[in-house]
Amino acid sequence: MTGLLTVVGLGPGGTAHRTEAAVTAVRQAEVVLGYAPYLDGCADLLGPEQTVVRGRMTEEGLRAAQAVEFAATGRRVALVSSGDAGVYGMATLALSAVAELDPGTRPRVEVLPGVTAALAASAVAGAPLAHDFACLTLSSLLTPWAEVERRLRAVAAADLALALYNPRSNGREWQLDRAREVVLEHRPGATPVALVTDATRAEQRVALTTLDDMDCSSVGMTTTVLIGSSTTRRIGDWLVTPRSALPGSTT
Ligand SMILES: C[S@@+](CC[C@H](N)C(=O)[O-])C[C@H]1O[C@@H](n2cnc3c(N)ncnc32)[C@H](O)[C@@H]1O
Repeated sequence: MTGLLTVVGLGPGGTAHRTEAAVTAVRQAEVVLGYAPYLDGCADLLGPEQTVVRGRMTEEGLRAAQAVEFAATGRRVALVSSGDAGVYGMATLALSAVAELDPGTRPRVEVLPGVTAALAASAVAGAPLAHDFACLTLSSLLTPWAEVERRLRAVAAADLALALYNPRSNGREWQLDRAREVVLEHRPGATPVALVTDATRAEQRVALTTLDDMDCSSVGMTTTVLIGSSTTRRIGDWLVTPRSALPGSTT
């Protein structure tokens, strides 16, 4: 019997922002695995007949292996991530774990897209990512900080708008301040910034500020930091990046 492993992106949090495919996959799964807060975020989709495996942070590899194991024994499995599972989520680990199985014992696998935090945050702030942009994580758990800084410097120099994931958490307090300093090497202090916390959730907050004035201490684990390019402008309560890379254009 061939099982099915569906890797599901649940979106940024608000239930209205989940895709129909994600909702169906979680409802139809016999086994649902995920980091506990993400399972809480889709509790409305879970039923008593389902096996629900609540995972902890830093146990992503174990969770992916468990999900693959369930699916390899013929079960219908949903492995959930927030946002999009392929963006700093569970998709890579799940696909790698499947690839380790003998071809004859592999379950079917599908990866369902979700609205990633950068896009949810961008919509809340207006349209700051309307032209070329880059996403970076400031977490140095899986990428050495020297490499994070090298990439940040490169994208700052390339004048791309930026979405910074994992900007700050307990025990990782200095990285955002350092990232701000690195970007300031290439951009003026007046560059627009949006600090978007809990996008699409009831607690959603947005602070529009600048590189000079941004308050890094107000940023937490559920914040995405958006930094404009040289063409990004503040228009009332919105940040807008024209759809041309050339300063002065409004298209
Ligand atoms: C481990 S990453 C997971 C990203 C997720 N797979 C995605 O595609 O959005 C967690 C980071 O995503 C960002 N994030 C997730 N949900 C968010 C939300 N609702 N509002 C703002 N940022 C969010 C924060 O930067 C957080 O530290």
